[in-house]
Amino acid sequence: MPAVLELDLSDPTLVTDPFAAYGVARERGPVARLAGPGFGPLWVLTRHAEARAMLTDPRFVLGEGTYQALEVPEHCRPYLRTMQEMDGEPHARLRRLTTPAFAARRALEFRPRIERAVALLLDQLPTREPFDLLTTFAQPLPMEVICELVGVRQADRPRWHEYGANVVRGSGAGFAAAVPGIIDGARDLVAQPESDLLRRLTGDAGLSEQEAVALVWQLVLAGQTPANFLANAVDALLSHPDQLALLRAEPRRWPNAVDELMRWCGSQLLTIPRRATEDVELSGVLVREGDQVTASIAAANRDPRVFAEPDRLDVRRAAGAHLGFAAGPHFCLGASFARVQIEVALAALFERFPALRVLEAPRVPDPGTWRLASLRVAPSIE
Ligand code: HEM
Repeated sequence: MPAVLELDLSDPTLVTDPFAAYGVARERGPVARLAGPGFGPLWVLTRHAEARAMLTDPRFVLGEGTYQALEVPEHCRPYLRTMQEMDGEPHARLRRLTTPAFAARRALEFRPRIERAVALLLDQLPTREPFDLLTTFAQPLPMEVICELVGVRQADRPRWHEYGANVVRGSGAGFAAAVPGIIDGARDLVAQPESDLLRRLTGDAGLSEQEAVALVWQLVLAGQTPANFLANAVDALLSHPDQLALLRAEPRRWPNAVDELMRWCGSQLLTIPRRATEDVELSGVLVREGDQVTASIAAANRDPRVFAEPDRLDVRRAAGAHLGFAAGPHFCLGASFARVQIEVALAALFERFPALRVLEAPRVPDPGTWRLASLRVAPSIE
């Protein structure tokens, strides 16, 4: 068995520059071990081909997540079982039923609603004094898009934004407390669907009440991912003025730029760990039945075997092969909506604020997510 590099999740270099740290591991070998406080041992795949192969291999399954252990009212429990915790035929069935509603064509139809949500948020931003773009724009936008998607009434939106913020803050009391509000709200929305999405899912697609409510719950969880990525992308473009200038000159490049930004500064560093259902040999390393395995999205997206000069941000490159949305059966269901949302948000932001500049962009030391604690910007040059 080849010697396997051990990475420590609490190692400062892994949190301050995960791309470099995972990059070192990737060049040592396609498989490494991750360990850290509160974590059991975890295998991590660092190269693009090997990571992709594991994500599409049915011998690795997601299984029940930690939400089942939350202290929530009993009636909420059945709704917390999302497709993210399923595999095999039950998962494939749910994907077959839901995929058409999240197709690229649907995201394009939905684009004007995203444009409106973006414009409304931009209208509220200061035009002179500095502000935190993370809390005023990048964080509220995804939740606003989810509200629009599932048809939350305007009067209820402040409450949903509050739930969303609690869920994003992660585990703990605030998270558990948000669950009944989201589930009860989702049950009301599903009982009388107002949005095209929920009408489609509960109508033609034939989702059961439990499945539709679980999907709304999952949209609140997974659909907020654009927040951290959007802030990273703004920071990246403002620190690469040549790339931003190129996009300003040729706005048709925006969709491609979104993929390149996702490759270069995507916020998800690792996929959700999978469990091996049998003994499997991965690149000469024996992974035992029951072992946990993850893919390092950060390392795979900078794999020189796939991307030339991988550390260079180049909005002209064809970056569509990145693993920012994962791969295989759990490939991000909302990818088309996410792409449109990010594109519209970035293009509109830089059009509205042509002289935007970063004052401060401190990062949160989080080994799972590449994210900013705040993104303080100045709207104009003076
Ligand atoms: C920049 C934005 C986003 C990123 C980077 C992202 C990334 C991902 C990734 C990596 C996964 C797979 C996780 C794994 O299996 O380990 C995933 C799954 C998922 N995402 Fe996204 N996502 C984004 C936005 C969204 C949005 C806007 C929605 C909803 C509208 C969404 C809905 C989902 C759902 C439902 C799944 C579960 C799919 C399944 O288990 O079959 N995501 N996403």
